[in-house]
Amino acid sequence: MEENPFKYGGVVRGPYFADREEELRELESEMVSRGRIFLVSPRRYGKTCLLFNLIDHLNSQEIATVYFDLNAYPEMTGFAGALTTETSRTLESNIEKLNKLLSSLQRLRPRVTVDSDGTMSMGVEVASGEGDPLQALLEGLNHAEELARKKKRLLVIIIDEFSDLLKYNGETVEKALRSAIQQHEHIGYVFSGSEQSLMLSMVQERRRPFYKLGRLMELGPIPRDLYSTFIAGWLKKGGYKYPEGGIERILHLGHEVPYNVQRLCHTMWELAGKSQVVTPEIIEGLPAHIVRQDSPIYEMLWQTATQPQKVLLIALTEDPDMSLLSKEFMFKHRIGPPSSIKASLQSLVKKGILYRDIKGKYQFTDSFMPFWIDYIRMKHG
Ligand SMILES: Nc1ncnc2c1ncn2[C@@H]1O[C@H](COP(=O)(O)OP(=O)(O)OP(=O)(O)O)[C@@H](O)[C@H]1O
Ligand SMILES: [Mg+2]
Repeated sequence: MEENPFKYGGVVRGPYFADREEELRELESEMVSRGRIFLVSPRRYGKTCLLFNLIDHLNSQEIATVYFDLNAYPEMTGFAGALTTETSRTLESNIEKLNKLLSSLQRLRPRVTVDSDGTMSMGVEVASGEGDPLQALLEGLNHAEELARKKKRLLVIIIDEFSDLLKYNGETVEKALRSAIQQHEHIGYVFSGSEQSLMLSMVQERRRPFYKLGRLMELGPIPRDLYSTFIAGWLKKGGYKYPEGGIERILHLGHEVPYNVQRLCHTMWELAGKSQVVTPEIIEGLPAHIVRQDSPIYEMLWQTATQPQKVLLIALTEDPDMSLLSKEFMFKHRIGPPSSIKASLQSLVKKGILYRDIKGKYQFTDSFMPFWIDYIRMKHG
């Protein structure tokens, strides 16, 4: 049997990566002209995958790239060190020259690390007690610009989970970064994040330093026809038979969220097994199968909810399209008054179980969760 071509969870590249051609082209041309892009979408729409595919494209054209996930740097000192090290490394491959470059920095000290396989490499870190890590970060960024200019290279800096920047020290960092970035002529920047409201207010509010610093690119779902063609292509290649309308049904069940769709397809591929025949029953059973696999995760989430919050989640599962504050909804599910529903909603958003979409509607962050709620209710009668 062919290897399962529907990957989920990690970074998906090359032939396993569906569509996004238009977005890749747009990002590429923006980067070639040293643009600045703010990439925004809800969780699991495929921003990180898109960025890694962009890196592959850029690298094949000899464009230097560096990628950072701000989640990995709880402190600004760590980020300043990594940014300076990585940008220098990607632009200067000669070790001696690299060492010389890094030693010339004011606020960052050279540091030699030895990997598990014994290879030594040089980096920089903000020395403890060296004062302001923001100044070190700015020195690193400006150093990257200067090096790119000298090398006559284009450098692309990608920062993922960018809304995490606010954890450092908020607007001071934003202001300082803006004025540095604005002066850079040899670096293209992509800032990516899923905290939509945070990202949007960063770029769209007039009083914020990043206002109009770059262009906003909102990543939507993958167009249905293109995703269908991708899925059908792999099924055909694997010799699978599937019912008419089956793929559309999967896109619907996954709310067109790429992570969900990949997971559904992956599971379908496994369940059809040796027979390689996908039946309508297999497709309808996919979400229930997945939530059973993930049940411990849902149980943990569920335990964080209070009793009235659980009742509200059940009501939302039964009537996802009703207005939550309508008399009809409150009466049917015996909940209320509106003030307590609002409080529950707020708390569920804080816990990450629900989110408020751009239209102001409350949705399950994980769109499979309602299937899990159905599953436990069935189990307990
Ligand atoms: N174009 C695509 N083709 C195939 N699979 C994809 C695609 N985009 C996303 N995926 C699937 O969705 C999963 C999540 O994608 P990714 O981590 O890139 O999303 P994200 O938007 O960065 O999410 P988060 O906001 O949580 O960081 C991937 O592991 C992959 O399985
Ligand atoms: Mg991501």
